[in-house]
Amino acid sequence: MNLKKTPLVFITRQIPEAAVDLLKKKKFKVKVYEEDHPIPEKELVQNIINADAVISLLTDKFDSAVIDKMKNCKIIANYAVGFNNIDVKYAEKKKIFVSNTPDVLTDSTADLTMTLVLACARRIIEGEKFLMMKKYKGWKPKLLLGVELKGKTFGILGAGRIGTAVALRAKSFGTNIVYFSDLKNEFLEQKVDAERLSLDTLLKKSDFISIHLPLTEKTYHLLNKKKLSLIKKDAILVNTARGEIIEEKELIRILKQKKIRCAGLDVFENEPYINSEFYRLKNVVLLPHIGSATEEARTNMALLAAKNVISVLSGKKPVTPVL
Ligand code: DGY
Repeated sequence: MNLKKTPLVFITRQIPEAAVDLLKKKKFKVKVYEEDHPIPEKELVQNIINADAVISLLTDKFDSAVIDKMKNCKIIANYAVGFNNIDVKYAEKKKIFVSNTPDVLTDSTADLTMTLVLACARRIIEGEKFLMMKKYKGWKPKLLLGVELKGKTFGILGAGRIGTAVALRAKSFGTNIVYFSDLKNEFLEQKVDAERLSLDTLLKKSDFISIHLPLTEKTYHLLNKKKLSLIKKDAILVNTARGEIIEEKELIRILKQKKIRCAGLDVFENEPYINSEFYRLKNVVLLPHIGSATEEARTNMALLAAKNVISVLSGKKPVTPVL
């Protein structure tokens, strides 16, 4: 008689079916929170008490109090590359692995970054609104003039996977790549002649600035009032990483004062809350955190999260551990 209990995997939200299918194929019991909103903490706790593994979202907070409730859990597999929603050190102390979903969303996020860069540079949203409001009365030499990328300086904050993928794309538009990173990125330096700069120098020199850093204690409000004041008046700032890296009220202030050309934002400081001041600005392009929102990336993120769970529940290490 096999007395071994079937492991239970709890998924905190509906994710692409491929993950559930794979887990079921491996004979795990799968429970999914079916509502179309982030799971309230009370229900999260009720569901994770007995789970052997959890697939979590970036909207679920796993602090020490929540982690303490987990009695059997061996892995929190975050369905995101960022993992600032999890107290990783505490999970490690409790012998719970934490994994994320790197690589599979790199291209989608880099594509969206360039979408925001171009939307800001070429005033795409303003142009569409103008047309939809039936204001277009014919071609005009000075209608909605934007800026070219070619020959400009493109500054990348954080030269990891996504920063590197953005740099390659930006290079193909003819920009000169500069980057700010704790580590030298040999690949970028050789491949696109990228130059590593201090943060202040990068901010002063760049015509385009794109953020690709993880959110940590060190990067929280990295772009504060002082740093934002170094940015050129004509520059475009894009953030597809985490909203908290920019001191949002200061960004709004410089946007209002036109001390920066435009900001393209996919992420915000207090999501899902959006500071209403943004709605009144013309020099912004705002998106609802959709950097990785492609069919390909989201399916592969789901599969990778499931593979991390399978690996750990089979007595091995996660495929993509965060530590
Ligand atoms: C991540 O993965 O961290 C993104 O923010 C969502 O895909």
